[in-house]
Amino acid sequence: MKDLKELIHYATLAPSGHNTQPWLFSLNDDTIEIRPDYKRRLPVVDPDDHALFISLGCALENLIIAANQFGYSEDIKYDLPKEKSEAIKVILTKSSEANENLLFDALNKRQSTRNKYDRKPLPESDILSLKEVTKQEGVIFKIFITDNEIEPLIKFVKEGNIFQFKNKEFVNELVSWIRFSKSDAEKKRDGIRSAVIGAPSIPNWFGKLIMKFNSGEKEAKKCEDAIRNSSGLVLFISEDNSKQNWINIGRSFERFALKATQLGLKHAHLNMPCEELEVRKKLQKYLGLPKEQQPLLLLRIGYSDPLPKSFRRNVEEVIT
Ligand SMILES: Cc1cc2nc3c(=O)[nH]c(=O)nc-3n(C[C@H](O)[C@H](O)[C@H](O)COP(=O)(O)O)c2cc1C
Repeated sequence: MKDLKELIHYATLAPSGHNTQPWLFSLNDDTIEIRPDYKRRLPVVDPDDHALFISLGCALENLIIAANQFGYSEDIKYDLPKEKSEAIKVILTKSSEANENLLFDALNKRQSTRNKYDRKPLPESDILSLKEVTKQEGVIFKIFITDNEIEPLIKFVKEGNIFQFKNKEFVNELVSWIRFSKSDAEKKRDGIRSAVIGAPSIPNWFGKLIMKFNSGEKEAKKCEDAIRNSSGLVLFISEDNSKQNWINIGRSFERFALKATQLGLKHAHLNMPCEELEVRKKLQKYLGLPKEQQPLLLLRIGYSDPLPKSFRRNVEEVIT
């Protein structure tokens, strides 16, 4: 049997909110269990843990893609009780039917790319491939490409951004996950390192000071410009607010991100209107969604150069 630790390594390459890497894995014969690591939750920006479970869904998808590539088929069992002892169990079987996975080669290349894009239009065939690859039970995927579709969404992003930067607790939580100096980033191997946002390495105290003077209005304007230079926006909507569908969103989003990478497309999150409940309600209303359907991930997509990759903790640190 291929070393299961190698599969876990691929799972940990998944994206997660603020790069918290909020996952723990355990191994037992042919079964890998993925559990939330609540020590790494984000109580301010993600009080109900939906982003945490989306991140687990991304890690699950990576794990399955790698397992298929190495000749395993999978059976997934969800154990998601109300009390917090949740587990996603992936039972692996060596299979003659398991095929090479077409997204595998993108696992090492995918990244969130937060620079300016160049507005180039998306080919119709790529839009179709993205729609196809995101199909997942419990998940609705929407793509916005014309100015008429994109422009009305800008005000929701700006409103969410201004709300968040007015909230001291939000800024403090964000700052606690930014690794301003190169040495801190290399030591902790989590969080958002300066290089991935195109910023220089600076001492931590200086970074914290700069963040204090960062206004929501300034950030909102940056987002507006970034959207206007994108080829499109994509939105992932959960059929309801259940843990199962949060995980499903993660799976669908991860396949989207990997497929986009293969198509030479970059992506970056603009989740502010999904994270701020008051703004989310307005967005739901604008899109004509019923109350139970939750818009949870909003991203811009387009073409640009890559940025340095973010770090991950060693596999040994996430295996219990
Ligand atoms: C559920 C979820 C929410 C995220 N929210 C944001 C966000 O609001 N803003 C942002 O810039 N990046 C966001 N990200 C991207 C992460 O910061 C990114 O995945 C992480 O820093 C690791 O970097 P990588 O994706 O380049 O590997 C989010 C990712 C996930 C999975």
